[in-house]
Amino acid sequence: MPSQGKGNRLDASAMMRLTLPYIVFTLICAKNFANAAGDHWCYTQEECDAHTWSGECQTGKQQSPIDFTQKNTIQRNDAVRLRFNRKYSDAQDHFMVKNNGHTIQIQLGNDITSDLVMDGDYFKGSYRFSQLHFHWGSHEDKGSEHTVNGNGYVAELHLVHYSNDYKSLKEAVGTKNRRGLAVLGIFFEISNEDNHALQPIVEAISRVKRQEDDLVRVDIPLNVSALLPNDLSLWRYYGSLTTPSCNEVVVWTVFKKAVPISRSQWEAFKASADTKGKSIVDNYRPPQSTINRKVYFLNNVNRERMPEAGEDDRSPPLADSFYENAQRAVNSKAGSSDDKNNQHGSNSGPGRAEVVNSALTGFIFLSIFLQVLITTVFKCR
Ligand SMILES: *[C@@H]1O[C@H](CO)[C@@H](O)[C@H](O)[C@H]1NC(C)=O
Ligand SMILES: [Zn+2]
Repeated sequence: MPSQGKGNRLDASAMMRLTLPYIVFTLICAKNFANAAGDHWCYTQEECDAHTWSGECQTGKQQSPIDFTQKNTIQRNDAVRLRFNRKYSDAQDHFMVKNNGHTIQIQLGNDITSDLVMDGDYFKGSYRFSQLHFHWGSHEDKGSEHTVNGNGYVAELHLVHYSNDYKSLKEAVGTKNRRGLAVLGIFFEISNEDNHALQPIVEAISRVKRQEDDLVRVDIPLNVSALLPNDLSLWRYYGSLTTPSCNEVVVWTVFKKAVPISRSQWEAFKASADTKGKSIVDNYRPPQSTINRKVYFLNNVNRERMPEAGEDDRSPPLADSFYENAQRAVNSKAGSSDDKNNQHGSNSGPGRAEVVNSALTGFIFLSIFLQVLITTVFKCR
């Protein structure tokens, strides 16, 4: 056994020496590709719009946003809870705003993290609020990312959360966990009156008319929870970030009931511009395919306050899986649902010999793979 192990190591290092130049060359080439495709992305110019977005944006199978129709959704009537901690309903005495050239983004501090936490039935764990931002249109009938029966809304708000299993939004986005992020989407429709909950943000926008790297502190009270609609009927599905690099790490919650926005509030959004002075508008990605995906419409959603630390939790335990065990949860309402399907073979351990063999096979395949890449490298120049 020991001598065999040594032999494997020698083979491996020889193979490594052979493949290293390929790796370096391939990396250089990959960088050129990336530059050619452009780190610069946009919504409305042909050379950088959503059709040109690369990587998972092109190859992904669980992309967002989507169009909700009668046909592609499964309606469910069982009672579902959405829970927010107390901090959600506290008015924040200040917040930070940024115009990043693609959207207006609000954070509650310099750091993209906060004490606002939410969970709920079928979320599997709790989520920390990170930032909120908007997508809006040039006309009343477009601007939202998600659409309903093919129809858009004038704007859509995204409340971005990341799983408490991770230390940061960045870490959560970098994982392949398809529920690493939880984003709540809220539609806006034009109303004759101002939306008071939105007014602090509207005032903040006037301070970041032009794109800037910096966050601007705004000392106006903001109540994040007041931005939610009263009727919490919602669509729920697994999807992605709607901007490059379109990572498929989001469990989406989109509320059916739109909240109001007045024309003058809408104008404030449309008045913001990027560094070149081009106005930011129609900053939405078109709907993506829902083939082979389950989209649920939940029409019995109740809002609850999350128990604080030390407080007695009298409510029944949260169901932690929805998509995989939805039917089972209905059939045996009392039974606790687990989430086996979501943990792809993480505890099936191969034997040691298998490990050595597969490491060697891995190296051989890697070198073949790299040589194939090399032939494509010529296209690279
Ligand atoms: C924030 O909004 C929520 C929901 O509308 C409300 O229940 C709560 O009282 C508000 N908080 C403050 C401080 O006004
Ligand atoms: Zn968004």
